[in-house]
Amino acid sequence: MAVNLLTDNPELYELRFPDPDHLAARFADDVARRFGGGSRLLDIGCGTGRDAGHLARNGYTVTGLDLSEPMLAHARGRHPGVEFVNADMRSFDLGRRFDVITCLDSALLYCQENADLTAFLSRCRGHLVPGGLLVAEMRNGAFFLGDTGLLEGTVTTSVLWKGVAYTSHTRLWIDHAAQLLRRHRTWEWPGRAGPLHQRSAWRLLFPRELEYFLDVAGFEVLALFDGPGPRTRPSWTPGAPLWPGLSGDRLHLVARLRDPAGRPEVRPADHPTDRSADERTPFRCTP
Ligand SMILES: C[S@@+](CC[C@H](N)C(=O)[O-])C[C@H]1O[C@@H](n2cnc3c(N)ncnc32)[C@H](O)[C@@H]1O
Repeated sequence: MAVNLLTDNPELYELRFPDPDHLAARFADDVARRFGGGSRLLDIGCGTGRDAGHLARNGYTVTGLDLSEPMLAHARGRHPGVEFVNADMRSFDLGRRFDVITCLDSALLYCQENADLTAFLSRCRGHLVPGGLLVAEMRNGAFFLGDTGLLEGTVTTSVLWKGVAYTSHTRLWIDHAAQLLRRHRTWEWPGRAGPLHQRSAWRLLFPRELEYFLDVAGFEVLALFDGPGPRTRPSWTPGAPLWPGLSGDRLHLVARLRDPAGRPEVRPADHPTDRSADERTPFRCTP
């Protein structure tokens, strides 16, 4: 993986993208429960492990998967109740199945090519029980059809870490041919000779396109919504109704693995602290 100041320094990552109230993990738990998810959970692109750790402390049996060894080392040190695995989301093989797979904060969009997406979904299919859930949260490609504000100018942010101010200048633009949102970020901090340049990119996925990839991969989309989520304004609150507009800058997905043999659906194992099936909200949010 290319050098990345944030993934190479997980403490700095958490300072730059704080989530003190564990909104992301609580959101994932909420939607998984609404759609009947069970307790064995795999968090793909788990990063610092903060979501995995919170979910494990709240009754899930969690495995976190990431490609960044610094992130995983940080996660292992802080969340001993979680198993962390170094693997690529496009090719992992853990030899077992889960009730829920989460993939949060645009980690899925590192699948930049169609083949990457297909491989990722195939791996998810191979690691979910029939009826298991894929819960994902990411940027919304459709947002840029109506709002290009994020593409204007350069955003400068500073974060203090170990007494040193790290300043980033971030510029985003769209590579239409590759259907990627590209980012150029420079970092500066006292004592560094010159700016550190970093480039990355996310796949821009449109909701109907994502639905198609999922359908072909054997998933039924249960909900696709632009909020509320952990990174929307207003942000997610427990049990909040889901917004169906799909014009916002975040895209949230809940999809269920179909039973390939067409047998009656096998429900995932019940969550140990779950409400009864009757109390679960049968929500379907179609675009
Ligand atoms: C934006 S971070 C999200 C981290 C975490 N989910 C969160 O919300 O805090 C994306 C993560 O995906 C990981 N990642 C990127 N490409 C990956 C790949 N091909 N396989 C597994 N992990 C990958 C990165 O190392 C990084 O930790």
